[in-house]
Amino acid sequence: MKIALGVTGGIAAYKAAELARRLQDRSVRVQVVMTAAAEEFIRPLTFAALTGEKVITGMFDQHDSKSALDSSVEHISVAQGIDALVVAPATAATLARFAQGFSEDFLSTLYLATTAPVIVAPAMNVNMWRHPATQQNLATLRARGVTIVQPGAGYLACGMTGEGRLAEVPEIVDAVMERLEQNRELQGEQVLISAGPTYEPIDPVRFLGNRSSGKMGYALAECALRRGARVTLVSGPVSLTPPPVDEFVPVETSAEMRSAMLKRQGDASIVIMTAAVSDFSVATPAAHKIKREGNLHLELEPTPDVLAEIGVRRSPEQLLIGFAAETENLLENARRKLERKHLDAIVLNDVSRPGIGFSSDRNAGQIVTHDGIVEIPEMSKLDMAGRILDAVAKLRHNAAKVTV
Ligand code: CTP
Repeated sequence: MKIALGVTGGIAAYKAAELARRLQDRSVRVQVVMTAAAEEFIRPLTFAALTGEKVITGMFDQHDSKSALDSSVEHISVAQGIDALVVAPATAATLARFAQGFSEDFLSTLYLATTAPVIVAPAMNVNMWRHPATQQNLATLRARGVTIVQPGAGYLACGMTGEGRLAEVPEIVDAVMERLEQNRELQGEQVLISAGPTYEPIDPVRFLGNRSSGKMGYALAECALRRGARVTLVSGPVSLTPPPVDEFVPVETSAEMRSAMLKRQGDASIVIMTAAVSDFSVATPAAHKIKREGNLHLELEPTPDVLAEIGVRRSPEQLLIGFAAETENLLENARRKLERKHLDAIVLNDVSRPGIGFSSDRNAGQIVTHDGIVEIPEMSKLDMAGRILDAVAKLRHNAAKVTV
């Protein structure tokens, strides 16, 4: 497991070194991110020596253009690769930035970019702590699901006595470990996910494709990883960077998608088929580029239904989730596919709704199971991935109850 440890500018910054050590004792890898103010209190070298990892100190650490580009997207790769963001000590200013969503430095940008759980351990002067502005920011963060490790009371570095002292290191470690365990309900599961479109060749330069961006499948892969699953991602051609899955299998055609999925189905405990597999392929793709000479007639033949084949071969223990892109008779069509393809759940998208679905970052829909329907209002695809995996975890839980 890996966390990012944000260290912000307070006297208690030195205690973050002890915190990093104690987290490492629990086999947690620690990537330290320091704000500029933190560097006034403790040197990055201390953390680099303790953690063995480069310490991130600024948004644009490097000065040559290639490295500057690397570091400008670094917050995204750090955001994707961590299981939690821990900030200790968290100053009043940091809490305010998080609450307001300002992305002024690496740490506040990381806060916005990550979907991992966030734990903050505030430390500040007692009056700053009690100020309604700080309390309101804390309430906002708490409502968003951020864990707040309450500061202790006592003598403060500013000479005053009261609340505002950074919680004791073991208490912060316990809060972090508890949060890391909480979200790992897919531990032990092997999840096979398909994503993106397929390209069916017409000739060496042209293909039949579709509008799928792969975002939903990639979000599911990221979320499943975060919840402790081992993940295999079979992806059609998309322009996304895959999350750090256990196996990444790029494919192009529906035939390649089919063989990649069937080959791996046996090892999977959960299969989620988000890919927009082409329903037709060109019967005989031309060996050479077709010339523009009058009308062109293509003979298309239906492709095998990969999900239906997986449905026939599945074991009762394997969970199978499909997607349905519909424009009319939504529920009726989705229910029919649920039965016909032997699925446990089908995620229904109304692809005729503007602003969501294909290529958008947002989505909405319904999760249809044999027991009922879960409505998913419009939200980001990452949040929707979380809802889908909640439903998957519930299906797994119910299946376990039946077999006991
Ligand atoms: N699917 C598949 N292989 C295909 C076509 C679809 O595995 N050749 C899968 C998709 O990945 C999705 C589900 O089947 O999980 C439903 O896809 P959809 O396109 O909505 O339905 P189809 O079965 O293709 O039916 P239709 O297009 O006629 O609505």
